[in-house]
Amino acid sequence: MAEKKVVETTENEIAVHWQEEGLFYPSTKFIAQANMTDETIYDRFSLDNFPECFKEYADMLDWYKYWDTTLDTSDAPCWKWFVGGELNVSYNCIDRHLEKNRNKTAIHFVPELLEEKTEHITYQELYVRVNEFAALLRDFAGLKRGDRVTIHMPMSAELPITMLACARLGVIHSVVFGGFSGKACADRIEDSNSRVLITMDSYYRGGKLLDHKANADISCELAEEAGQKVDKVLVWERYPGKYSSKTPMVDGRDYSVNTILKDYYGKIIEPERMKAEEPLFLMYTSGTTGKPKGCQHGTGGYLSYVTGTSKYVQDIQPEDVYWCAADIGWITGHSYIVYGPLSLGASTVIYEGIPTYPDAGRCWKISQDLGVNIFHTSPTAIRALRKVGPDEPKKYDFEFKHMTTVGEPIEPEVWKWYQKEVGKGKAAIVDTYWQTETGGFLCSTLPGLKPMKPGSCGPGVPGIHPIIFDENGKELGQGAGKAGNICIQNPWPGIFQTIWGDRDRFVDTYFARYNTKPDSKDWRDWPYLTGDAAVQAEDGYFRVLGRIDDVINVSGHRLGTKEIESASLCATEVAEAAVVPVKDDIKGHVPDLYISLKPGIDITDAVAKKISDTVCDEIGKIARPRKVWLVADMPKTRSGKIMRRVLASISNEKDVGDVTTLVNPDIVKEIKQQYDNSKK
Ligand code: PRX
Repeated sequence: MAEKKVVETTENEIAVHWQEEGLFYPSTKFIAQANMTDETIYDRFSLDNFPECFKEYADMLDWYKYWDTTLDTSDAPCWKWFVGGELNVSYNCIDRHLEKNRNKTAIHFVPELLEEKTEHITYQELYVRVNEFAALLRDFAGLKRGDRVTIHMPMSAELPITMLACARLGVIHSVVFGGFSGKACADRIEDSNSRVLITMDSYYRGGKLLDHKANADISCELAEEAGQKVDKVLVWERYPGKYSSKTPMVDGRDYSVNTILKDYYGKIIEPERMKAEEPLFLMYTSGTTGKPKGCQHGTGGYLSYVTGTSKYVQDIQPEDVYWCAADIGWITGHSYIVYGPLSLGASTVIYEGIPTYPDAGRCWKISQDLGVNIFHTSPTAIRALRKVGPDEPKKYDFEFKHMTTVGEPIEPEVWKWYQKEVGKGKAAIVDTYWQTETGGFLCSTLPGLKPMKPGSCGPGVPGIHPIIFDENGKELGQGAGKAGNICIQNPWPGIFQTIWGDRDRFVDTYFARYNTKPDSKDWRDWPYLTGDAAVQAEDGYFRVLGRIDDVINVSGHRLGTKEIESASLCATEVAEAAVVPVKDDIKGHVPDLYISLKPGIDITDAVAKKISDTVCDEIGKIARPRKVWLVADMPKTRSGKIMRRVLASISNEKDVGDVTTLVNPDIVKEIKQQYDNSKK
């Protein structure tokens, strides 16, 4: 068994005080049209029918060659799904819809500026653009099956076009969230050994045109220093034909996609016949160490899983206009903006900007204008929209049949506002619990079958069998009323295959905790550790309470405390750093950064600002600390470990508890005083 993790700053307080809530039932109108209303689905996907049950999802796809082994466990716990099968993701998301839906909108791209026109890209147009760009990637950039390519792009129609072009060729894409810094992008270029970077010159955010290409220059420089040279930077133009960045194009390295693309107009690329278990993409996520890990997702398993869950959990039907207001640079965007909806032949909305530009009614205006009927967003966005524009939804004429929340727990009060004001009391709502690693949903109600309970994500979705263990591996049953570690008993097709280049870390982080037979090839011996604490009510619904490890959930996005700490150490003044999560009304949590400076360096606001800016430069603005506390020393145990739990209590205005065993208990009083003074 892996060494037991010491939990210093649990986030378990988030929701344990919530009352058991009453149930809300979906309307008969919703049920009458729902994709899934058959109770027997839970039997079909029971453990007795595992793994063959997942054939139902794989059969939603078109295969060049049908698979012969549903689940291959020979390299446990690196599962292989649908082995022997061959398919192409781009074919499944585009080509197969052409016969019946050639002229249907695949992507509505909404620019942030109101005066700019929304683009409606049909499946035919998507087919043409993906093929042309795939031709450019193959013939100009020399990319081929199995190569990795890093994509650092904002929300734009060109982003899914780029991803689908990669998928067509069997090139493994690694999309980096557009808001991440050039440095964060460089780390991912280096780890994945990408020699091609695809970017965009600029994009709008909050009414300003941001210079995005500047990041590419930083990324290339830092990646090269780290040993990975980028040969080509392919730059999409926000305004085709007009380069909108102040940074010069580097001769022999940077190429304008929109210019070169002309040579590939009309080119058609035969999709690669990919083996089901070949990788489709990498998605880096934060963990307990400073180095983000590249979650490797496969082809057949992943696409089957996001297609099946998009159909049954999101209730997406071909005639729906579906808007997931996440960013494609996160897993939510990959699975539930791009791959799931397009595989089902729906129309998916991509919005460039922020939800409050130019005002808090923007989301509802877009929904009204495009006839959006399924809406998907994070509790952070809901909390923000409720705060700044509680009456905005009423002003617009839209009607959602279905709404989704994702990424963090939602407070029952916020859920009820969403249900009443945004859903107008009519929409079915699903609270979906899952992770970058899991590819698709783990827990959620099925909207046409199960009632909703505010603040609970519901039971495992079909084929997912969660279990809550205590620290010793004893199962806490339904209604135990105690929090424990939520694990999944069985593999599923959407689970990531490994951490890119680090199988040992994959096994240690996710499986070693509750595995007692490391040589076993039986999936029953390998429960998947999510890293979250949860409780299960008597009715079987789960409430996820928060992380059990050193990960902070900021606005529904994961940041490693170690990642922020090591970023702050790049400021030369810093001797020691400790990050703790602070509860925040809008973002769920935000990081507070405690710093002790090197000897001889004065505590000044300028130093604090420099450290804060360094964190943003290293990771991105999303990681900006709420406050940088420059302290005389860190509270430490006798073995020299920084007591983050104590700092977290101060930042969250809680009792620090017994600190007498610390080597320097007086510093706690001093830091507390510093905190109290800052509030005066
Ligand atoms: O702690 C859980 C929380 O977000 C983590 C996963 O973050 P990430 O990999 O960035 O993926 C976010 C989008 C899928 C989880 O370990 N989390 C996610 N969904 C929920 C949640 N916590 C409570 N309720 C949810 N619905």
